Amino acid sequence: MKQFSFNQKCVLITGASSGIGEALSQKIASQASHLILVARNVEKLKTLQKKLENQLNVSVYQLDLCDFSAIDDFAREMNSQRLSIDVLIHNAGISQRSLAKETSEETELKIWNTNYFGPVRLTKKLLALMPAKPSKIVVISSIVGVFGYPFRSTYSATKHALKGYFESLALEEKSNGLEVHFVLPGRVRTDISKKALRGDGQHHDKMDEGQAIGISAERCADDIVKAVNRGKVKVLIGGKELLMVKLYSIFPNVFKNIALKELKNG
Ligand SMILES: NC(=O)c1ccc[n+]([C@@H]2O[C@H](COP(=O)([O-])OP(=O)(O)OC[C@H]3O[C@@H](n4cnc5c(N)ncnc54)[C@H](OP(=O)(O)O)[C@@H]3O)[C@@H](O)[C@H]2O)c1
Repeated sequence: MKQFSFNQKCVLITGASSGIGEALSQKIASQASHLILVARNVEKLKTLQKKLENQLNVSVYQLDLCDFSAIDDFAREMNSQRLSIDVLIHNAGISQRSLAKETSEETELKIWNTNYFGPVRLTKKLLALMPAKPSKIVVISSIVGVFGYPFRSTYSATKHALKGYFESLALEEKSNGLEVHFVLPGRVRTDISKKALRGDGQHHDKMDEGQAIGISAERCADDIVKAVNRGKVKVLIGGKELLMVKLYSIFPNVFKNIALKELKNG
């Protein structure tokens, strides 16, 4: 099977201001011809742009995925430049650290808009700019996109929804050359747990113990690029926590006991 290469490609990455998105931007910069980096924190994006600019053309855009009219403006700007986007990486995301019954609707909506409705709207607006065969959409999901887990009800639901949506889209657009890849990280050492929302919408503000011993964002980025190059539709990335995916399907009761222990420990 012919390997895909990011060489000379135009790649749009959401959530490029930190963690996995930042590491991916750095990794892909040595191969791509144009990187379009998107996030809310445009100062961080500009710092990254300065670092990478001698390697390739880097454009940065401030975009809040919860702001639908801003998504429309951004898409209009992309359209006006008549860009051809080869790879769209939906990486931006926000996690959760609260019991379902204690999570406000406002908090749920913020997680849904960031992780699901924003990316879906962006996809629909940009699809016409992805004529290459193949063009690719890379969806950064999570292992909780496979199973539900305590304190992650809404987060897990958004990641499950991404699977349904983008699997369907991949089938509909196959004849137009679209290929979709799903990345399911376990624990990656980023600020995701600090920025995760509590039920009242405040930040969790804590580096979880499990998060702190996760793999590095750089290793995660390396594995993502390898998986896309090899044409893998689904890839699990992480350490021993990935065992939970196997337990879930083969020994569901063992999985349940571990998850319930986590619930008890808070
Ligand atoms: N780290 C892990 O262990 C882990 C495990 C499984 C899955 N993941 C997934 O990996 C992806 C990247 O997470 P990470 O670990 O790298 O965490 P991170 O460092 O917190 O990065 C999240 C990125 O998303 C962006 N973002 C958040 N809300 C946004 C919004 N409303 N609009 C636009 N951009 C927004 C942030 O940028 P701004 O704040 O500048 O907007 C940031 O660049 C997420 O989809 C996450 O669910 C991570």
